Amino acid sequence: MLLATGGAGYIGSHTVRALRAAGHEVVVYDDLSEGHRDAVGDAPLVVGDLLDTGLLQRTLADFGVSGVLHFAARCYVGESMQQPRLYWRINRDGTRSLLAAMAACGARALVFSSTCAVYGVPESLPMSEDLHRAPINVYGETKAAMEDEIAAVEGLRSGIFRYFNAAGAAPDGSLAERHDPETHLIPLALRAARDGTVLTVHGDDYPTPDGTCIRDYVHVCDLASAHVAAIEDLLAGGESFVANLGYGRGVSVRQVLDAVRRVTGRPLEVHVGPRRPGDPAELYADGARARERLEWTPAYDDLDTIVEHAWATLRD
Ligand SMILES: NC(=O)c1ccc[n+]([C@@H]2O[C@H](COP(=O)([O-])OP(=O)(O)OC[C@H]3O[C@@H](n4cnc5c(N)ncnc54)[C@H](O)[C@@H]3O)[C@@H](O)[C@H]2O)c1
Repeated sequence: MLLATGGAGYIGSHTVRALRAAGHEVVVYDDLSEGHRDAVGDAPLVVGDLLDTGLLQRTLADFGVSGVLHFAARCYVGESMQQPRLYWRINRDGTRSLLAAMAACGARALVFSSTCAVYGVPESLPMSEDLHRAPINVYGETKAAMEDEIAAVEGLRSGIFRYFNAAGAAPDGSLAERHDPETHLIPLALRAARDGTVLTVHGDDYPTPDGTCIRDYVHVCDLASAHVAAIEDLLAGGESFVANLGYGRGVSVRQVLDAVRRVTGRPLEVHVGPRRPGDPAELYADGARARERLEWTPAYDDLDTIVEHAWATLRD
């Protein structure tokens, strides 16, 4: 049995679906602060807070959990700067609570959701796992700190994934990205195209070919398949690892907006506002390690496909 904290959220719910399709039993542990009960399907759901070590421990013991996927966190960069204590409480203290419960129950394999935000402004591109980590926001700081604490736990086999920009949705339209507030470009642009509203682009004077920021958008189902490979590897005795999850392909904001116009067949009006503080010009992964270490083979490495799958869940 596996346990997925945050399994009612965006990446967690897609991964729970993939794990179950691969034949694993999964129990979801989520306080539903951001997640959705209906995203869990008919997998068992324990509604609880990460900080409740006793409930975590009982859940691990009652379900006989051997491996954990830890998605639950607060994950808004701006909010982390306004409410740093909240981020240290949920992301650090919540992860410590999970590690304590796992130690008490003998669950010795963990996959952790980290982020490319741990790198801050990268020294070089594409970004390899060996780059110096220098987060520039509290969210990234909490994730970098937990990477270190997890790696230091004796006897724990851990897989630390640094996701780039998760995007897209289940190809059959049955699961979606439902964040509130939504801060991610693709759903925001699709909603603007659907509703005929104006989308704000944060800066077009970056030192990139078209002046807008460049990111590495990864289909959420490709993230999910990497998690399946990782937990299976760790449970089979594989060594701990740290790996980026990105395609290694940078796409600009303007290229995303063109894809949104192509896929929706609708006009999309854009207002160019000022840069957002703390947005590096370019972030894209060196994704070789995940491909080699886990034989990860992405199935949806195509911008229009990602946008099409997201659109299928948003169109009216
Ligand atoms: N979405 C991205 O592009 C992205 C990029 C890099 C890293 N990540 C990381 O991936 C993970 C999942 O991200 P997501 O986009 O699916 O977020 P999400 O908000 O959709 O999912 C997080 C889930 O955790 C739950 N949760 C939050 N606090 C909790 C608590 N105290 N106790 C129990 N459950 C709690 C929420 O209810 C939610 O279901 C996070 O750790 C995030 O930092 C996401």
